[in-house]
Amino acid sequence: MPASSTTVFDQPAALMAWSDAQRVAGRTVALVPTMGALHDGHLALVAEARRHADVVVVSIFVNPLQFNRSDDFDAYPRPLDDDLALCREHGVDAVYAPRAAAMYPPGFATHVEPGPLGELLEGAHRPHHFRGVATVVAKLFGAARPHVAVFGQKDFQQLAVIRRMAGDLDMGIEIIGMATVREPDGLAMSSRNRRLSPAERAAATCVPRSLQAVADALSRGVAGTAELAAVGRAVVQAEPLARFEHLEIVDADTLQPLTTIHDRAVAVTAVWFGQVRLIDNRLLAAGRPA
Ligand code: PAJ
Repeated sequence: MPASSTTVFDQPAALMAWSDAQRVAGRTVALVPTMGALHDGHLALVAEARRHADVVVVSIFVNPLQFNRSDDFDAYPRPLDDDLALCREHGVDAVYAPRAAAMYPPGFATHVEPGPLGELLEGAHRPHHFRGVATVVAKLFGAARPHVAVFGQKDFQQLAVIRRMAGDLDMGIEIIGMATVREPDGLAMSSRNRRLSPAERAAATCVPRSLQAVADALSRGVAGTAELAAVGRAVVQAEPLARFEHLEIVDADTLQPLTTIHDRAVAVTAVWFGQVRLIDNRLLAAGRPA
């Protein structure tokens, strides 16, 4: 891919001015929010953003507000130079990489409270996580002023929370969801994968295998969600390096637990490997081959 010029911003006002100039010139703006340590999943979002707008902004910010464990925040990888090189290679027009002091200056006090969608599932295991996500994404939307923003379905609940927020707060931004990009062995790409030991990395295939087992059981005619979830849990529990956290089958829109499968059902799971927590999900279609 040809190297193009990528402008790097670290202050919100500078990015706002750049985005306004794009709009004045008649160009549409897409935003891809990330926490960096970019991988092919993030780059798929960049490619999708390019299909929807004239210019693409990638934000890179490890957001302290959404971490409920300081060890996880401290250990989060921050290879900024590699990330900038990847953005240049992939024709990203602007990168927004603010420091925490620019994002949350002294006196910062306003938060976005996502409501019930933020309290279920992940929200129950990670208190205040989605409040932190919604707040930072609202700020990124404010600074980048995009027409569209692209998010991964890997973070299924996050996508639902952001859609709700953008609609509820009349942000006028189209939210686009992208399918999960996986490693050849099925593991969903994640910046956290690089914190796994080789043995844990090998063991982590039990996460997509557990979701596959749920889909297979469904296509064999098992329809009760408790039974389906037990099938998936057993796959994870057979792996000595994995610590099962949860696997639930919920409605893809409301995220409410289901007792029987319908057309918009999704299996969502979280599994620990040492200090690393991985999440994944899979849409399930009743009565159809998975
Ligand atoms: P991060 O984990 O860096 O992910 C940034 C975006 O990439 C999210 O929309 C996420 O769903 C998407 N993504 C991650 N792995 C993916 C994969 N394997 N395939 C497709 N998309 C993938 O999610 C966050 O950062 C933060 O919460 C953020 C939204 C930036 C707010 O801080």
